[in-house]
This record gives sequence, C-alpha cells and structure tokens, in this order.
Amino acid sequence: MAAQVRHEHWSSRFAFLMAAIGSAVGLGNIWRFPFITGENGGGAFILIYLVTTALIALPILIAEVMLGRMGQQSPINAMRAVAQKAGRSKFWVVIGIGSTLGAFVVLSYYSVIGGWAIRYFFYAVSGTFTGMDNDASLALFQTFTADAGQVVLWHTFFIGINVGIVIWGLHAGIEKAVTVLMPLLFILLVGMAIYSSTTPGFEKAVTFLFHFDFGKVTPLTFLTAIGQGFFSVSVALGAMMTYGAYLDKSENIARSGIIIAIADTMVAILAGLVIFPLVFSYGLEAGSGPGLIFVTLPITLGKLGTGIELGAAFFLLLMVAAVTSAISLLEPVVSWAEESLGVKRKVSAAAMGAAAWFVGLGSAFSFNIWSDFHPFSGIDIFADKTIFDALDLTSTSLVMPTVGLLIALFAGWALSAEATAEALNADPDAAWFRWWRFLIRYMAPLGVVSIFVANGLA
Ligand code: PFF
Repeated sequence: MAAQVRHEHWSSRFAFLMAAIGSAVGLGNIWRFPFITGENGGGAFILIYLVTTALIALPILIAEVMLGRMGQQSPINAMRAVAQKAGRSKFWVVIGIGSTLGAFVVLSYYSVIGGWAIRYFFYAVSGTFTGMDNDASLALFQTFTADAGQVVLWHTFFIGINVGIVIWGLHAGIEKAVTVLMPLLFILLVGMAIYSSTTPGFEKAVTFLFHFDFGKVTPLTFLTAIGQGFFSVSVALGAMMTYGAYLDKSENIARSGIIIAIADTMVAILAGLVIFPLVFSYGLEAGSGPGLIFVTLPITLGKLGTGIELGAAFFLLLMVAAVTSAISLLEPVVSWAEESLGVKRKVSAAAMGAAAWFVGLGSAFSFNIWSDFHPFSGIDIFADKTIFDALDLTSTSLVMPTVGLLIALFAGWALSAEATAEALNADPDAAWFRWWRFLIRYMAPLGVVSIFVANGLA
C-alpha cells in the first residue's frame, strides 16, 4: 500500500531546479503569455502579472512543494499523511485528489497542443512557411486542425514522448531529459531574442511590452493575470507537490520557489521579446488571440530569409517547453498508481499515458469532427463549449483556483506556524517566513476568492 513505495530523490539541486523550471516553463509562457499580453494591452498587464504572481502564485508554490516534501508521496497519499500527522480532517485529501485529476485532465488536452508544436516544427523544417501570406497561413492552420487523423497522430507522438521519459523513472528518465532539454531551451530562447532584437519591429515591441498604459486596465485584467500566474508557475495540479516529494530535507524550498518563479517570468518576457518584434516587423496584429504563434508567426517566418532556421528553432523551443511541462503532469498520476495500485512504474506510465491519450481524443476532435459537439450545453457557462474548451475552462478556472485556495488554507491555517517553519527549515521569527505566512493566510485566499467572484459576475 501507499507508504511502502520509496521514491527516488533528486540527485542534485540543479536537477530539481531544471525539472521544476521545466514544469513551469511551457505552452503557458510561449503560447499563452504573449497572446494574453497582446489582448490585454501590453506593459500594464505585465506589471500586474509580476505583482500578483509574487504575492499569490509564489507563496502557494512554496506551500505546495513544502507539502510534497512533508508527505514524501504522490499528492493524494502525501496529503493524507500530512493531514493525519497534523491531526487534521481527512477532508484535506481533496487537495491531492483534485490536483491529481486536474493534472490528468490538463495533460490530456495539453498534449493535443503539444502535438501541434511538433507538427509545426516539421512544417518549419520543410520550408512550408516560405512565401506564405495571411490567408495561406490561416488556411494551413485550419486545414491541419480540421484533419482529425493528423491531430490525433501528433497528439499520439506527444504523449508517446512523455511516456518514453517518465517510464524510466526519476533519475534515468525525468532528470536526464530536463538536464539536457532545459539548457537547450535557454540557448534557443536567448539566441532568438538576440535575433529578434535586430529586426525593425524590436523597438515597437519593447514599447509595447514595457510601456504602462493603465487606461486599458480593468478588474478583469487582474484576474486574468492571477489565473495566468497560477498556470504559468505550475501550481495546484500536483506537479510541484510531486517534485517536492523527491526533494531532500536540507533543500531550501523558499529560495527554490523564488528561483522557479523568476526563471518562469523571465522566459515569458523573453518569449514576448522574440515574438512581438517579428509580429510588428510585418505590421501584424498583436492582439490576435490563441492563433498568434500558429497563424501569425509563420507569416513572418515565411518572409524572412532566415525563416526556416528561425522557425525550426522556435517550434523546437515550443516542443521542449511543452514536453518538460507535460512530464510533470504525468508524474503525479504515475507515482500515485505505483503507490496505490501497486503496479510497477513501466506499467503505470504506459497505462496512465494511454488513458490520458484516450481522454485527449475528445479534445483532438474538438477542432474537427466534434467542433459542433457541446456536450455540457445544459450548463450555462458551457453552452457553446467544445470538449477542449470545457476541459480547459474547468481545470484553469475551477479546479486550479479551488485547489490553490485549499493549499493556502491548509498551509496557512490548518498547519501551525511551528510546523510550517520546521518544514521550510525556517526560523519562525525570520522576516521572510512571517511575510510568507501572511501572504499564504490572507493574500492568496483573497486573490483566489476574487477570481471566483469576478468569474461569477463575468
Ligand atoms: N506551467 C505550464 C505552462 O506554463 O505551460 C503548465 C502546467 C504544468 C501547469 C504543470 C500546471 C502544472 F502542474
């Protein structure tokens, strides 16, 4: 049963940081952050994002890693152990259940978009973007996503890569992958940012990203920023809790959390500095929504002399970022199955990957044969939502904020100050610890509740 599985531990601090930063840096940074920033007016959004992430997502991230290390198991079993040891109600296991289910569901549809990234990498390599105009780029995107067989094929590849990594366990699988892939990601990103800085649109991009136009700020801007921060630093889906379970007692969790959040934010901003100069160099629309990198970017790439290399580098970057996040979504589910179903890692990784693949079919079909299928239309907010939309909305607007809120309440109120100070290797009177405890008790719950209130009003 649960307590009998002894998991491997990180072989170094570097390995843990690469894995955790790999989890945080993903489609959320390179695909979502630029278009959300574009839609929300640029610099002012970024400033609000920085503040809300530091005050809300970061303290929860620290708490989540801490709970994992306290529990030493996958989220469900970790929460059971920690709640029991603290003499608290079994109810808190709901944090583990919600995050594990959430991770599974997000993996299922994240993998569909991950598959697009792989497909687009091959488009780029084969020179498909060369000479493409707006209509051709849109047509390419639409033709590809409308082909159910194609979308499923690339979704299958993507899940296959993840299973192929996680199946080898922590040292031979996850660590090996992230210690190679993350440095590659940084090199690609910095190289591309340097290139983008030589394009004519660079100045405009810098103004766009760093000019604070508060005229465009509404209450919704804050909520979008909080939600994006949660998704981007990977809180509330059990990934960080699971990685925390593999962390040695001596590791400084607060410092690691700060490093992870800073690296994640820097990558998001760098991704903006790569994408917007290209977008502006050809007078394209910054606020063009989710299609920004799949539709707008190829147009630019097709016009550049260096389009093939740059396009290949960009979509490789996107693939790497997506894979290192997806493995962190698969790991909580796989380690839970090892502990609670008593199966070997090989069986558990293959079975859980296959299950996520199967559930992901619904999302893959949402762009083609099931694009008019709105399965939950009986519920108001899901009226016109495809399976993909509904799963995304449920996980990012419902499951993640709820689990985040519960983590904050558990760590801030159910656990004593002494217990959390000990778990974080902190002096209970240290200024930083008191600040963290203030944020986790008051600020984080308030921030999350405000998301719900605003979503209810929206
Ligand atoms: N942080 C990832 C991204 O920005 O794409 C997504 C993610 C991964 C969220 C793992 C949550 C998680 F547990």
